[in-house]
Amino acid sequence: MNKVYLEKLHTAANAIEAACGRADIAVILGSGLGQYVEALENVTSISYADIPGFPVSTAPGHEGRWYAGTLHGKRVCMMQGRFHAYEGYDMREVTMPIRVMKLLGVQTLIVTNAAGGVNTAYVPGDLMLMTDFLNMSGKNPLTGPNLDEFGVRFPDMSKPYSPVLREIALVASQKLGIKLQSGIYCWMNGPCYESPAEIRMTRILGADAVGMSTVPETIVARHCGMSVLGISCITNMAAGILDQQLSHQEVMDVGAQTQTKFRALIDAVIAEI
Ligand code: HPA
Repeated sequence: MNKVYLEKLHTAANAIEAACGRADIAVILGSGLGQYVEALENVTSISYADIPGFPVSTAPGHEGRWYAGTLHGKRVCMMQGRFHAYEGYDMREVTMPIRVMKLLGVQTLIVTNAAGGVNTAYVPGDLMLMTDFLNMSGKNPLTGPNLDEFGVRFPDMSKPYSPVLREIALVASQKLGIKLQSGIYCWMNGPCYESPAEIRMTRILGADAVGMSTVPETIVARHCGMSVLGISCITNMAAGILDQQLSHQEVMDVGAQTQTKFRALIDAVIAEI
């Protein structure tokens, strides 16, 4: 099982390296945030469809292209579109890009997402620094034989999001005058949005935001020793907080509206890494 998967990882990494080279920092762009690839200089890219064995993005707003280039003189790759468990991919496929990044030399991962606000002090358009996560999906991407080449069987998860990178992001947000909330992100499987009762449950458990991604990527990145920074864009208030229905269009629209400050923040963080 591991041998075939490992071969798949190396084949995909080789194809990406041939097209786009290696990288030190990776950014995964969530719903509505994909335009950030425009920030890259000396850009190269490859479609996921042209990477052997790579899954393809099926979620609207996830283009399915791997970009690489430089930003502040650093080698950065960006994923315009990610994979989610709700698309039907198994957890090894969902997190395959993280292990491919590791093979390409990535040491720092910046994960972004669109999320519903569970904390009633938040408003749509807020950015939230992820301080920790709650895994309510019932899944774990490390299930199955351990990949000893990448990390240990029982990895520590006491600091999923790097305190050093969080401090860099907080200082950058203050300098830029960007409001940055700090909170706990709860991973729900989706694809339906949560029920109001589920949102009340997540709030009781300590969640500030809820979404359908990012946690599997964080777990696998920590397993293989990367430093992780997580930033959520609160695109809507979670179910039951306001008397209105949730829609993916709203998620993408608000995500797109926050691009400017989101880009400024990530840019400032990458400059400091
Ligand atoms: N719930 C789950 N995922 C989401 C939400 C939400 O309210 N908004 C954006 N992604």
